[in-house]
Amino acid sequence: MLEIIGILGGGAMGRGIAQVALQNNKSVIVYDVMPNAAEIITNHLTVTFDLLIGKAKITNDQKNEYLANLKIVDSMQKLADCDLIIEAIIEDLQLKKTVFEGLSKVLKSSAIVCSNTSSFSITAIASAYKDPSRCLGLHFFNPAPVMPLVEIISAYQTDPLLVEQLKAEMTNWKKTPVVAKDTPGFIVNRIARPFYSEALRIYEENLATKEDIDLAIKQIGGFKMEPLS
Ligand SMILES: NC(=O)c1ccc[n+]([C@@H]2O[C@H](COP(=O)([O-])OP(=O)(O)OC[C@H]3O[C@@H](n4cnc5c(N)ncnc54)[C@H](O)[C@@H]3O)[C@@H](O)[C@H]2O)c1
Repeated sequence: MLEIIGILGGGAMGRGIAQVALQNNKSVIVYDVMPNAAEIITNHLTVTFDLLIGKAKITNDQKNEYLANLKIVDSMQKLADCDLIIEAIIEDLQLKKTVFEGLSKVLKSSAIVCSNTSSFSITAIASAYKDPSRCLGLHFFNPAPVMPLVEIISAYQTDPLLVEQLKAEMTNWKKTPVVAKDTPGFIVNRIARPFYSEALRIYEENLATKEDIDLAIKQIGGFKMEPLS
């Protein structure tokens, strides 16, 4: 069972993923290098849970339980007991590799170690970890608590059993997991690139107005967002 979830980086994605894990009754440990990380992340989640109470989506007791299960730590060593790690630090390949190398000295051998990277090779990031077969990509979308889709990326070295385990875990978290190989953009961002760039080309070539392109895609095509607005 993956009970203790460690999250590296408490920014836009890390905080959202922490919220998802807490609302699935996990113990969550967040490590972030920013000054006042504990205050910033706890305040953010407190405000978010208060908003959910206001909308009658959670109770005050649940909020207190979630916050009691949240720990913000000031060193990577304090992630030692984690069963699942989700790295969501800034998008910098060298830094991610340094973090994975550091985690090698800290984590137990049974830990599953994931990166939320949008653009880097999971195979490259995993190569910095002591046992690359334990590493995968776990790509949430922004905002993580709202977006159901999660891409699970199997690196060259990943143990295939972990893909299945993570798929089951994400389903338990009420997410919709899809599995992709480790290629640039995975599934969604690969499709998104031509979606936006073709819309821009149509506009630049004066083939249609911005309004008509957006109308065609959103209202007729059924996409939730217009490519140009
Ligand atoms: N923002 C998005 O829409 C989105 C969507 C999917 C995936 N991602 C990916 O998620 C990751 C995080 O993106 P974000 O938007 O949350 O970034 P962000 O800038 O909001 O947050 C990154 C956090 O990482 C912290 N950090 C930096 N170095 C660290 C280190 N060595 N150890 C611990 N914490 C560290 C920073 O202090 C910051 O709080 C990136 O890999 C990004 O590509 C982002």
